[in-house]
Amino acid sequence: MIVGITTAVRIVVLPGDGIGPEVTEAARRVLDVAAGRVGLRLDFVEELVGGASVDAFGVALRPQTLRLCKTADAILFGAVGGPKWDDASPQSTLRPGSGLLALRKGLELFANLRPVRVDPAMVATSALRPERVKDVDLLVVRELTGGLYFSKPKRRYSTPRGDAAVDTMRYSTPEIERVAVRAFELARRRRQRLCSVDKANMLETSRLWRSVVSRVAERYPDVACSHMLVDAFAMDLLRRPQAYDVVVTENLFGDIVTDEASMLAGSLGMLPSASLGGGTLGLYEPIHGSAPDIAGKGIANPIGAILSAALLLRWSLNREDAAQVIEQAVSRVLADGLRTADIAPDGQPAVGTTAMTDAVIEALG
Ligand code: IPM
Ligand code: MG
Repeated sequence: MIVGITTAVRIVVLPGDGIGPEVTEAARRVLDVAAGRVGLRLDFVEELVGGASVDAFGVALRPQTLRLCKTADAILFGAVGGPKWDDASPQSTLRPGSGLLALRKGLELFANLRPVRVDPAMVATSALRPERVKDVDLLVVRELTGGLYFSKPKRRYSTPRGDAAVDTMRYSTPEIERVAVRAFELARRRRQRLCSVDKANMLETSRLWRSVVSRVAERYPDVACSHMLVDAFAMDLLRRPQAYDVVVTENLFGDIVTDEASMLAGSLGMLPSASLGGGTLGLYEPIHGSAPDIAGKGIANPIGAILSAALLLRWSLNREDAAQVIEQAVSRVLADGLRTADIAPDGQPAVGTTAMTDAVIEALG
C-alpha cells in the first residue's frame, strides 16, 4: 500500500536588495501555507542576487546560482538595485539589474506576463475615476529577452566632440513569433481579444513585429487581433482601460506601459509578474523595484510579491486551486479595509508588511 506520497518541489528564493527581502519573505510564507493546503511540500533554497551578491561575491549573479535556478521548479524573486551600486555601467556585472537580466536570458524566459486587475475594493484608490477602472482585467505579455535591453552593439565611446552612446533594438522572426503565440494562446483562454503594441510608423523592428504578429493571428481566427502604436496605446490605456484583454509588446514598451498600468490598480506595489519560457520553469517577481527609500522600515506593500506566489502556483506548479486560494485571500483582506501606506487613502491608518501578510495567511482559511 502506498500512503501519503507528497512530491517535494524545489523553489529558489532570490530576495535581492532594498525591500526585496521583506516582500519575498511575505510571499514565501503565504506560498508555503497555501501549498500545504493542497498537500504540496515545497523546499526553499535561498541565494543572493543583485547588489547583495555584488557585495558578497563581486558579481550580480554567480554562475552556480544560475545553474541552481535551471534545476529548480520555480524561482521567487524580490527586487534588485539601489543607490550604492548606481555608478556601474548598465552592462557591468557589478550592476544589480544585470543579475536579473542574466537570469531572464540564461533561463530563456521570453514571455513576461503582467496581469492588471483592479480589485473591487481598490476602485476608489485608483488614480482614475471609479467608472473608468471598474472591472479592468488586462494581461500585458512583455517580450523579455530581446530588443533594446540585449541587442548589440550596446556601448558608450568617446569621440572628439564628447562621449557618444549606442543601444540597439533588434528582433528576429522566431523571437517575435514565440511570444506572439504565447499571447494568442492566453487570449484564447480569456476574452479572445489581443492588441499588439508597437511603433511601426517609426521602427523597422516594429514593422517586422507587426507582420509576424499578423501572420500568427491567422492561426487564431477565434481571437480578435488589433495593432496599436505605443504612444496612442499609452493614452488609450488611461482613456478606456476596460477595452483591453491581452496586450503583447516588445521589451522596453512593456516595461513602461506596465508601470503606467499599475496606477489603474492603485499602486506599483500591487502588481505581480510571471516570466516564462518554453517549459514550466518560471521566475516570479512583483513588477516594483527595490524602493531603497523605504527599505528596512517594514512598510512595503507585499501584495505584488504575494500575488506573484499565486502565479508561481498557477504557471509552474499547475495548481490553479492553490493560486486562487491566495488571490481570494488578498481580495478578502482588501475588502476588509486593510491597507499598506502606499494604498491607504490620505489620513487613513496603514498596516505594515508583516501585518498585511499575517492577514492574508489568516484569510487563506
Ligand atoms: C522590471 C524592472 C527591470 C526591467 C529592471 C530592474 C532591470 O524595471 O522588471 O520592470 O527594466 O525590466
Ligand atoms: Mg520596470
